[in-house]
Amino acid sequence: MAGPVFEAAREYAEAMTARDPLAGYRERFHIPRAPDGNDCVYLCGHSLGLQPKTVRANVEQELKDWEQLGVEAHFHAQHPWMPYHRFLTEQTARVIGTKPEEVVVMNSLTLNLHLMMVSFYRPSAGRHRILIEANTFPSDQYAVRSQIRFRGFDPASSLLELRPRAGEVQLRDEDIFSLIEREGQSIALIMLGGVNYFSGQAFDLAAITKAGHAQGCVVGFDLAHAAGNILLNLHDWDADFAVWCTYKYLNGGPGCVGGCFVHERHAREWDLPRFAGWWGHDEQSRFRMRPDFVPMKGAEGWQLSNPSILTMAALRASLDIFNEVGMQRLREKSISLTGYLEFLLNQRPSSRFTIVTPHEPERRGAQLSLQIGEGAGVVQQKLAAAGVLCDLREPDILRAAPVPLYNTYEDVYRFAERFLVTLEDR
Ligand SMILES: Cc1ncc(COP(=O)(O)O)c(C=O)c1O
Repeated sequence: MAGPVFEAAREYAEAMTARDPLAGYRERFHIPRAPDGNDCVYLCGHSLGLQPKTVRANVEQELKDWEQLGVEAHFHAQHPWMPYHRFLTEQTARVIGTKPEEVVVMNSLTLNLHLMMVSFYRPSAGRHRILIEANTFPSDQYAVRSQIRFRGFDPASSLLELRPRAGEVQLRDEDIFSLIEREGQSIALIMLGGVNYFSGQAFDLAAITKAGHAQGCVVGFDLAHAAGNILLNLHDWDADFAVWCTYKYLNGGPGCVGGCFVHERHAREWDLPRFAGWWGHDEQSRFRMRPDFVPMKGAEGWQLSNPSILTMAALRASLDIFNEVGMQRLREKSISLTGYLEFLLNQRPSSRFTIVTPHEPERRGAQLSLQIGEGAGVVQQKLAAAGVLCDLREPDILRAAPVPLYNTYEDVYRFAERFLVTLEDR
């Protein structure tokens, strides 16, 4: 099928914005200001999503309930605090593509990853390896290596890394699947990102799960850069678990709570090893305060602590918007916006930068990673001074993500124009 036909003139960006059915959602977010007082070009939603305007009212409501009701707000707040996390469950399940009992919003990403590995990384003498991407986010590396050591194994022999071929940034599908087939019998856990934070490459999670299960491996995913970005269907894809954060595409705010998926086939596996806390205990008997832990069924059984109300109130504002728009429509616009960004950058092919993110829409999300060589930091600073925000990952990758909820075709046009001029001036 032929891809969309874009045009390079500025008027085209204006016309596309005018006919964008989702354009109105931008009004629902606070857009940071550029030094000249205008809206900045914010292509950083892969790092920290923007603030929905309803966050303040949501948080203030909780502050008011706390002020006026004190401890009674656990039961009598407008959104009672006891079951507060459940106000986020259905919307989250829609974004991640799961059944409600398979997801819970709690803790933070790295902590949830540890909790999942306590339950789902069960190494034995013959099968003790964890498969990850060599260039995965460092926190995942640290978490995985520390879990391996915690179980008495050595990362030198128990960590298996998927590495792009020499001179390449993306992983080739054939290399992923041949490694799983070749080494699968020694792999206890496959733990990959849904979208790689560095290259922006999206993986075929359904096929990886299938290949992993065929070899007897447990399969889990870090969806930090996938949640709210690409279409996910974790339940049907049959993954064992997944974790994610909510401050990127999900706009929950800095340090907002993370999320966790556990497939329903594990919902009643009471014998799974787990690190327990009282909020994971059967809610009917939780307040009897008995020492024996009886886990709740489903993902909620992995909760540790009572919910963090203020950050969940912020996240609720964003998830309400996701619920209204729907991931399908967001993804359609996202494919178009990112395709447009790629098109504009390719109008002036240059040896000064390379797009290292895959070209095919199904192999990427919103983000394009631009390898720009020496002086990358200076380029990013010059862009920021001009009100164009993207970020840098060492040594020389500039990441830019037009986010369909609040970015426009004009944002993309302004980014491409300024980026190309700044590179030439370098
Ligand atoms: C892929 C990935 N994994 C893990 C993390 C760490 O997340 P947290 O600090 O919420 O644990 C991040 C943070 O950006 C990330 O991008």
